[in-house]
This record gives sequence, C-alpha cells and structure tokens, in this order.
Amino acid sequence: NYHFFHFLISHAKNYGFVFPSSEIYGGLHAIYDYGQYGIELKNNIKEYWWKSMTQLHENIVGIDTSILMHSDIWKASGHIEKFNDFLIDNKDSKKRYCPEILIREYVNLMNNKNKGHLINIPKEKILFRMYQSLKKKDLLDIRVLIDELNIPDPICGSHNWTNIRLFNMMFKIEEEKGNLLYLRPETAQGIFSNFLNIKNSSRMKIPFGIAQIGKSFRNEIIARKFIFRMREFEQMEMQFFILPEEEMKWYEYWKKNRLKWHLELNLGNKKYQIRDHEQLAHYASIGSDIEFNFPFGFKEIEGIHSRRDFDLKQHEKFSKKKLRVFGKKKMIGNYIPYVIETSLGLDRLFLAILYSSLKKEKLENGNERIVLKFPPYLSPIKAAVFPLVLKDGLPEIAKRIFNNLKIDYQLVYDQKKSIGKLYRRQDAIGTPLCFTIDYDTIKTNTVTMRDRDSMKQKRIHIKDISKIIEYKTGI
Ligand code: GAP
Repeated sequence: NYHFFHFLISHAKNYGFVFPSSEIYGGLHAIYDYGQYGIELKNNIKEYWWKSMTQLHENIVGIDTSILMHSDIWKASGHIEKFNDFLIDNKDSKKRYCPEILIREYVNLMNNKNKGHLINIPKEKILFRMYQSLKKKDLLDIRVLIDELNIPDPICGSHNWTNIRLFNMMFKIEEEKGNLLYLRPETAQGIFSNFLNIKNSSRMKIPFGIAQIGKSFRNEIIARKFIFRMREFEQMEMQFFILPEEEMKWYEYWKKNRLKWHLELNLGNKKYQIRDHEQLAHYASIGSDIEFNFPFGFKEIEGIHSRRDFDLKQHEKFSKKKLRVFGKKKMIGNYIPYVIETSLGLDRLFLAILYSSLKKEKLENGNERIVLKFPPYLSPIKAAVFPLVLKDGLPEIAKRIFNNLKIDYQLVYDQKKSIGKLYRRQDAIGTPLCFTIDYDTIKTNTVTMRDRDSMKQKRIHIKDISKIIEYKTGI
C-alpha cells in the first residue's frame, strides 16, 4: 500500500491531477494545486454533491459565504478559545511536531527494537496528561511526560525540545494594526451567521437545510498523507435546522442518508465504516464519522454531528440579534432550532475516488496498463476522438465530429501518436470512451468505439455517438 500510495501521488502529478503548490520554489508544506484533469474531476464531484443535496431536497438551499468574516464570529463559535492542538517545537530544526505522534513514533521504534516486551500507551493517557497540565497552567516538558509514562531511554536525549503548548489552528490576517481577521476553519459559520437572511428571504419552514461548498483553512501541525490533511482545503457542508425534540430522528436520518450517498458512488461497500465519536468537537453533542479505507487505513471522510443550538445561541449572545423561529402551537413561544450537520471533505473524497479507481492491469500480451476506472459521470474527460491516420481527410472528419459534440461534453481531440498510445493515455486519465475515425468512416459513416474498462471495440454509427456518451456518462 505504501508503494501504491507513492505511485498514486506521482501518477496524479504526471497526468495533471494534483501538483505540489509552489513547486518551483521548493513547495509549501501541506498545500497542493489541482491540475487540468484534477479540476474537472473536482468540479464533477462538487456538482454531484450539490445536485444531490439541493436539487433533490426541496427543503435544502445553497449559499456561498465569504472566507473572511467578522472576528466576533470566531469568538462566538468558540474557535478562538478552543480550536487548538498540542504542539512542540524542535529548537534545532525549527520544525513543529505533534507531541502525541512524537511519543507514538518513539514507542513504535522501541517496540521494534525490543520485540519481546511491547510497550502500549493509550492515546487517551497521553492526552489526559497534557490537558491536566494545561488546566494547571504549567507547560509540560516532554522529558517529564516520557518519564511519567515509563518509557525507557528518554526520546529526547539528543534533541532540544520546547515545552508542550497549545496552538490555535486558525490562520490569522492583520486587517490593520492590531486588528485580526481569521481565515475560516469551517464553512459552517457562514451558514449560521446567515441563518436569518435565508429564513427571511426564502420563507422556508423548519426542518430545512443550507448547503455550502467552499475553502477552509487550518494550520495543521501534522500534515503528511498528500491531500488527505492540508492547510487549505475544501468542505461540502450542510446544516439542517430542526425542532429540538427531533434531534435523534434527524441525526439518524442524515447518518444513514450520507452513508447511502457514499455507497452509491460504487467505490466498494467494504471500504466504508461508521465510527461513533467518543471525543467530541467543542460544539457537538453527538457525532459520528463516515470512514474510508485509504492507503493508510480507515480514516474520516465525512462527519455527521448534532450541534444542537450551540452555534445559534452563541451568535444570539454575541450579536444581540434574535436567531429564533416561531414555534408551532405546542411549543411555548419562539425557539432556537437544533442543527444536524453533515460535513464532507472534498479533497478527501477526491483522494478516495482516485485511490479506488487507479489500477495496474496485466494484459494478455504480457504488457501492463495503468487505468483510472472512475465512475464515468465523474470522469474529467467523457470521450476522446482520434483520426486513425493524418491523411485522406480523416483528421477533418474527426475534428468535425469533435466540434459537434464539444458543446455538450468535456472531450479531447488527439492525433499526435499511434492509436495504441492514444488509448493508453486516455486510460491513464480515466476517459470512459474513445472514438476512432478510419477509412470505413468515409464509406459507412461508422467509427470504432473503444471502451476503457473492457478494452472492447465496436463499430457504431456517427449519429449514435452523442446518445452513447450520454448513456454511458450520465448520472
Ligand atoms: N463543520 C464541521 C467540521 O469542520 P471536521 O470534522 O473538523 O468538522 C469536516 O471537518 C471534514 O472536513 C472532515 O471529515 C474532512 O473530510 C475535512 N477536513 C477537515 N480537516 C481537513 C484537512 N486539514 N484537510 C483536508 N480535509 C479536511
């Protein structure tokens, strides 16, 4: 898996899906750019999510809110006070580390050296001790912690570490001297702060939802694993406003609904599992993760939480505006609705789709082909059109067919290489169908259609091409 993951990262780069950001300047830690095919795939995923959330639910509308917001929003939401991670700096290398991971890595190292007597230290124990010292406001020295955990041979003998401290993960921007703005760490607060606007302008009644796709930013300390954990990423979030007494009903509904949505992508049912949260984010009362089996194991791809009335209540308090709805008869007066949230990481889904689709296949002739077997409706390019040779009018016919279809579909026209190489290239970017124009096209108005997955070829009439692409790549 480790090797395959590295192969995936280089394939993503070589074929225009994902590039390290600022690469000509040596890159930027945990930031990536999407290339020519990456952006098409990403846009297709967004459209698929957007339609299934807004178009298919008449009680969910969309919104697009700004990344920079009034800084009081982050006071109210609790992010300024609580959106923190533990951090330790290496004074020599000036690198930042997550103390928990540092200890785990060291424990693994010790276990490998010393196979007979395995050390096992639960994560909770490490975190508990770090929180304890924080409460007492005494910063913890990692050497003291290692000693307390009874791990042999101090980890840090040769290193020069700072104390363990808390670190706020929001990126800050100085608006003017002394006045800070924050890059949003979740899109959800743009929804909460517009709750009144949507309610008043749409006249929707509880229960209703607001969906948003947009960038979020977190100054993550441990950010390896390619686009899985980035400092700039995209979220697809939906906040569903409900009657407080219907919290469990809607929580269960969205948990089930979102898992079903993932399974319908057909990446493989066994690749998903649900993990109910033990440790909750500061705003949540119940929560669970939909986890996907990435090359590095099962990890969160989407979170479903009940945020109750936490956010709207806090915004009422800080903004002094009433964020309430009229109760039905049985409710006394107005009330603040509860919220069930679904929050999907677009980049994580992108990675899940790329990982599940990328295949190395042995062919009958002993050669190997690399193919991206994307679900056809998500493929960046829907079909490719080639002339078999560059003479006798074939390129002109191919160009004409391409021009007629390109208004409706994302297509490519290519003529530079041999037909075998052209097919391989389309396999490598995941194009479901290729159409080749040859000498028979002139006589019979037919072309060769080649299928990405089966590699089978078939003759079809020119007038049927559009219908076939629609049938194959429509949702
Ligand atoms: N509004 C709730 C919220 O933000 P979260 O569990 O912190 O909850 C939701 O994040 C989703 O956003 C995650 O399930 C994950 O898919 C994605 N996500 C979070 N941090 C990320 C990061 N650093 N890089 C990429 N995706 C991330």
